[in-house]
Amino acid sequence: MAIGKKSARHAAASVEVKPEDRSHNSNIQPAKGKLGVMIPGMGAVATTFVAGVEAVRKGISSPIGSLTQMGTIRLGKRTEGRSPKIKEFLPLAGLDDLVFTGWDIFEDDMHAAASKAGVLERDLLDKVKDRLSSIKPLKAVFDHNYVKKIDGPNVKKGKNKLELAEQLRQDIQDFKKSSGAARLITIWCASTESFIEPTAAHQSLKSLEKAMKENDESIAPSMVYAYASLMEGVPFANGAPNLTVDVPAMVELAHNREVPICGKDFKTGQTLIKTVLAPAFKARLLGLSGWYSTNILGNRDGEVLDDPGSFKTKEESKLGALEHILQPQLYPELYGNIFHKVRINYYPPRGDNKEGWDNIDIFGWLGYPMQIKVDFLCRDSILAAPIVLDLVLFLDLAQRSPELRRLGIQEWLSFYFKSPMTAPGLYPEHDLFIQLMKLKNTLRHLRGEELITHLGLEYYD
Ligand SMILES: NC(=O)c1ccc[n+]([C@@H]2O[C@H](COP(=O)([O-])OP(=O)(O)OC[C@H]3O[C@@H](n4cnc5c(N)ncnc54)[C@H](O)[C@@H]3O)[C@@H](O)[C@H]2O)c1
Repeated sequence: MAIGKKSARHAAASVEVKPEDRSHNSNIQPAKGKLGVMIPGMGAVATTFVAGVEAVRKGISSPIGSLTQMGTIRLGKRTEGRSPKIKEFLPLAGLDDLVFTGWDIFEDDMHAAASKAGVLERDLLDKVKDRLSSIKPLKAVFDHNYVKKIDGPNVKKGKNKLELAEQLRQDIQDFKKSSGAARLITIWCASTESFIEPTAAHQSLKSLEKAMKENDESIAPSMVYAYASLMEGVPFANGAPNLTVDVPAMVELAHNREVPICGKDFKTGQTLIKTVLAPAFKARLLGLSGWYSTNILGNRDGEVLDDPGSFKTKEESKLGALEHILQPQLYPELYGNIFHKVRINYYPPRGDNKEGWDNIDIFGWLGYPMQIKVDFLCRDSILAAPIVLDLVLFLDLAQRSPELRRLGIQEWLSFYFKSPMTAPGLYPEHDLFIQLMKLKNTLRHLRGEELITHLGLEYYD
């Protein structure tokens, strides 16, 4: 049957599905009580996120860019007209339920840190000052060798890395008690650490704990936070490209304790655009000979990335996407010889307002060359903050879903990362729209709704 005008109009309308109406379909525990958000790194991204949540709570701003707050999900056939908001379809924690804490090597409270980061206007920050200035950083686990460009006084001392992890575990327990949070999430928004390769120390939980005790240099501070969180049963997300949980020992820990973990490095600006354009070239079988990406960036993140060790970590994360999307092994003539270059230049006058340039050399019919230029004048933390919010709420959903929790790795959250995490041996999906479909189908699956394949033959029977 072809859809008539009337039913097509009907299909566009949205209906409300109350989470409680469908709760019998799944055994997701309800989002009762407060959700504590713990953030290593109270810099530009973290403060823009927390200030934004406060502003939305007060009704003075909109959560633009957040799938959990603004997104809808189509259910059933296109003729059914069921497109509830995601937050009405699933029992997500509400913004009013969020409580925050963080760790940083600097002593500034969130209001002072947000003022220094210079992302949000003073007027907005003043309106949320009370809440922000009450969030003071806990002492950090920090190693200058891992972030060479900065140093600060607010740092824990301990005999070894296992002892530092014990101190973090105590922080986590104390925060849970003092905030009255029913559940917790940790999300790394701290600086990018120097590049490291996995070593023998990262291969099993036993070797990891031994290495922490022996102060092995291959245990980065981010791993100490991740270990402490997972040991406390708290899901961990990583906004930076550091190795952190992407090693067998952490996967083992997450799996054994049924604690959700996901990918690395928020997919915000240039890589977001890259993972939209590259699938379009592949869809049309257009060849690619070169992709030159450069950035100018003047915030503290840019300064940290000016160090070759930290830049290498970022570079690896940014380079991965193209190869996985274009599959040169399947299309050697089109993608077998690509020159892909990524640069980040620290340029203080721009602050957080990054400029990302891309020059893309493609070729079409009979090999004729063409060029595309993209100049994205973006705002780094404005793009990252809604991702932090979505990850917090979806990881919390995962920890309340027995089916998801037991998996450890949450591949359905690939949508948010430059380096998605997958089961060993699986290649990651980088195409933004495959990632979105995977995410939404996971949500449908959780609620016992039909998965959407876009086949659509039944409309013409
Ligand atoms: N904004 C984006 O678009 C985006 C995208 C992808 C990834 N990221 C990553 O997110 C992270 C945060 O970015 P940002 O712009 O907020 O940076 P930022 O420099 O403003 O903030 C990072 C904060 O982390 C603190 N820190 C460093 N090491 C720490 C440790 N071991 N423990 C606790 N605190 C520590 C620093 O003192 C600083 O305050 C960076 O790693 C960045 O690469 C950002």
